[in-house]
Parts: sequence; C-alpha cells; structure tokens
Amino acid sequence: MKVDNNSNSESHETCRPPELTVVIPTFNEIGNIDSILPALHKALVGIHWEVIFVDDDSADHTAARVRERACTDPRVRLIHRLSIKGLSSACVEGMLSSTAPVVAVMDADMQHDETLLPEMLHSLNTGNLDLVVASRYIEKGDAGGLGVQRARISRAANYLSQALLKVPLSDPMSGFFMLRRELIEEIYPMLYGQGFKILLDICATLPREINYCELPYSMRERHTGNSKLSSGVMLEFFNLLVSRLANRYLPAKFILFSLVGLSGVVVHMAILTLLYRYFLLDFQLSLVAAILVSMTTNFILNNRFTFREVKLTGIGFFHGLLSFYAVCSIGAAIGFVTGIYLYSLSFPWWASGLITTVVSALWNFSMSSIFTWKSADST
Ligand code: GDD
Ligand code: MN
Repeated sequence: MKVDNNSNSESHETCRPPELTVVIPTFNEIGNIDSILPALHKALVGIHWEVIFVDDDSADHTAARVRERACTDPRVRLIHRLSIKGLSSACVEGMLSSTAPVVAVMDADMQHDETLLPEMLHSLNTGNLDLVVASRYIEKGDAGGLGVQRARISRAANYLSQALLKVPLSDPMSGFFMLRRELIEEIYPMLYGQGFKILLDICATLPREINYCELPYSMRERHTGNSKLSSGVMLEFFNLLVSRLANRYLPAKFILFSLVGLSGVVVHMAILTLLYRYFLLDFQLSLVAAILVSMTTNFILNNRFTFREVKLTGIGFFHGLLSFYAVCSIGAAIGFVTGIYLYSLSFPWWASGLITTVVSALWNFSMSSIFTWKSADST
C-alpha cells in the first residue's frame, strides 16, 4: 500500500490494527527518544507498527518527552509507572498492553539494530515461529557494543544460564527479541518477573515446545546516558538462576534474604572480635553492639537488594529499620525457645542450633516481607 504524508491517509493508516508493537522500557533515557523514534520510522516503512515506551517515572522526565512526541506521532504510546520498577516487569507490562499480535522488545539507547526488525517479523510470520531472538553470539553477530569487561560477564552469565533453558539459545541474555503476544499471555503468570533478564526468564518458563530462530546482529554502543546494569541487577540474575534451579521450591527472595543473613553472621563475628578481643570491652556490651550492627547491615542490604523494588527511603527507612529490629528480636526469641525445646527432646546440639537458625530466618523473612517491606511479593 502506498504511504504518503497526507494526514488523512496517515490517520487511515493508523486506523488499521498494528501488526507489530515495539516495546521499549525506559529509565532515564531522555536523550535517546529523539534518536530511536526516527530510526524506527525509517526501519519500519511499509509495516503497521506502534511503539510502547514503558517508563518507570524517570527523574530526567523521559515520560514527558515521550508524551510530547505522542501528540504528533500516533504510533507512540506510553505507560508511565509510578510504584513499580524493574526492567523485566516493564517489558511484560508493555507486551501485555500491545494491540498487535507480534511484539518486539528492545533498548531505548540505540544498542539494538532496529533495521533487523523487518527481517525478524518476516521470519516469525513466514516460519510460523513463536520467538525470534537477535543474537550477538552466532556467526555474523557481534557484541562489540559491550565493553571488554561486560562482554566477559555476559559470556559467563550466558554459560551459567544454559542449564535453565528449555530451548538452546546462543544469546539468552539478549534484550532484543520478538515473539507472539499469545506466548507471553500464556506464560506471564509463571514468570519470575523481576530483574533484567526477561528473555532468559521466558525461556526458562516455557510450558511447551516452541518454534524459534536466532538472527545475528551487531550490538552498537549506547547512544547517550548510562547503563542501568548494577550489582543489584547481577545479584538478581543469580537469584533467578538459583530459584529456577531449585525448581521454585524456595522462594527466590528467601535465598537472597538468607545470603544477606550469612553476611550478617560475618559482620556479627567481626564486631564481637573487635570490641571484645581488641578493645577489651565487656562481653555483654560487645555482644549487644555486634547484634545491633549486624541487624542494621542486614537491613541495609535487604533494603538495597532483596526488596529493592519496594526500597525504603527517607523517614520510611528509619521506620523500616525499627520494625526490622522488632521482627528480628522476636525471631531470635522464637528460635531460642525452639532450640531449647528440641534440645530437651534429645536432638543433638548442632541440629537444635541449626533448626533454630532456620526457624528464625523463616520468621524474619516472612514477617519483614509483611511488616517492614509491606508490598513486597515473597515469591
Ligand atoms: N522501565 C524500566 N525500568 N526500564 C529500564 C529499567 C527499569 O528498571 N532498567 C533499565 N531499563 C531500560 C533502559 O532504559 C534501556 O532502555 C533498557 O531497559 C536496557 O537497559 P540498559 O541500561 O541499556 O542495559 P544494558 O545495555 O546495560 O544491557 C542490555 O544488554 C544486556 C545484554 O548484555 C539490555 O538489553 C539487557 O536486557 C541485556 O541483557
Ligand atoms: Mn542498553
């Protein structure tokens, strides 16, 4: 069909249902909106498409910029999220809000080659596929847009995640892929849903065989702004791995919570040694200080990592800290009573001690999910 710039024919064009929705999650990407939009227009000539930006209330007002563009460009839509953060959930929300039968996900920062989109769509439609992944790690693909260090981490993560995949992808970490909306509608309730690696999550969740293919692309460097991949995000990746490998018997957050708890043991012993052995303070005083410091570091780490999507700040941070102290104190008391009881039943001392820790950790985890980080999901 002939496309011209006449506004009537443009509105006629956009009245037709889109065949492709491009989902672009954004977090502080204001400098990239005016680059990615013209690039999409250029690459997708002849295709009926729409783009959905899913913005997590970026401080740089990315959402306002998208809204401005949407006033003159009917292909542009915006989901502006206020209380939820996170790349995976943004992608899922964008995909589920699509009106097209096919959705693509890509970065806003021009790292993903938009000129590959028509070929991806063509492969998906002609091959009757469920999923097409743009891969950096098959022949003719290239991860050049990642720094040396990031490329190394990416390969290592890739290697680790192979165990989870229900389809052998060369680049399960790719943030650039296309799928049938039906597929995501089918599996979204089963997704882990947090963190950065939505494709890995999808491919670890598939309930049935799917038809898929990979197409090579060269990853470019980020246009402007900074990568959002942080240490917390990497930790979440390991959390995803462990929780999937544990076959969902263990709530993912509980694993992180327990790791933080282990770090608390180290802090506790370090403070105790320092105060009691080196500063020669009274044992009870040293013990109280060690308990307080380790509870505080546990709280800070859990706030930063385990419950990062409902992170407490400002005055909420201090309220949270107090409620965490209360929860952990009760947890310690319950653990204590359990330990004594088991020991009285002739359980070995080490088993009583171990069960004490598990009982306290379970209490602390569930109660702090409810009372300290209120809206946190514990799965
Ligand atoms: N809405 C929302 N919320 N968007 C986010 C969030 C978030 O919490 N975090 C990141 N984004 C957006 C960014 O604005 C960007 O458009 C896209 O998601 C990917 O984030 P980048 O910061 O550009 O990530 P990266 O380039 O370091 O990592 C990319 O490459 C990885 C492979 O090495 C991403 O494509 C990853 O998905 C991919 O795994
Ligand atoms: Mn990027």
